[in-house]
Amino acid sequence: MGATVVSRKPGRSSDDKTTMLVRKIPDGSVIDHIAAGKALSVLRLLGNPQENGFTIAMVMNVSSSKMGRKDIVKVEGLEVSQEQVQRLALIAPRASVNIVRSYRVIAKRNAVPPRTLRGILSCASPTCVSVRERDSAPSIFFLSGRSPLRYRCKYCGTELAEKEISSQLG
Ligand code: CTP
Ligand code: ZN
Repeated sequence: MGATVVSRKPGRSSDDKTTMLVRKIPDGSVIDHIAAGKALSVLRLLGNPQENGFTIAMVMNVSSSKMGRKDIVKVEGLEVSQEQVQRLALIAPRASVNIVRSYRVIAKRNAVPPRTLRGILSCASPTCVSVRERDSAPSIFFLSGRSPLRYRCKYCGTELAEKEISSQLG
């Protein structure tokens, strides 16, 4: 038998609500404002820290005033690097990465999608030179939209939508 649905209502402010679900962490990283449904891809991008001894907590599909619904990932004892923040921008373009020390947020890094991506995405057009001659024409994409995220192939102009970008990286 299925679970009983008690309430779907958003209730109190989202921060109170998430604190009720998952406590604050003493040290580590809180990745907030992840689009609902992307938390597992974010964990994968971080190298699945839960498989390397780190304790993680996830909040999925919580209400957010900015985003409607969002996911949050907390990793205790791990400070997400600047390079990881850059890559995060590709699967969670609205994410903010909070670095926590002694229970305080000491830095907030916004995931900014890079203007140019080299060798990270693959063109979706089978006739593109970057697909046919991978070695002489390495993939280059230019940012063409932020919300939703889009990248355009330098060689043939094919655009990749947010969904395709996530699925290539996830
Ligand atoms: N957080 C946490 N543990 C801490 C401190 C903060 O888990 N010791 C979490 C908060 O619950 C929140 C996120 O980290 O989800 C960011 O914290 P904070 O900057 O205090 O919250 P806001 O001001 O709401 O952040 P924003 O403006 O980015 O929405
Ligand atoms: Zn192309």
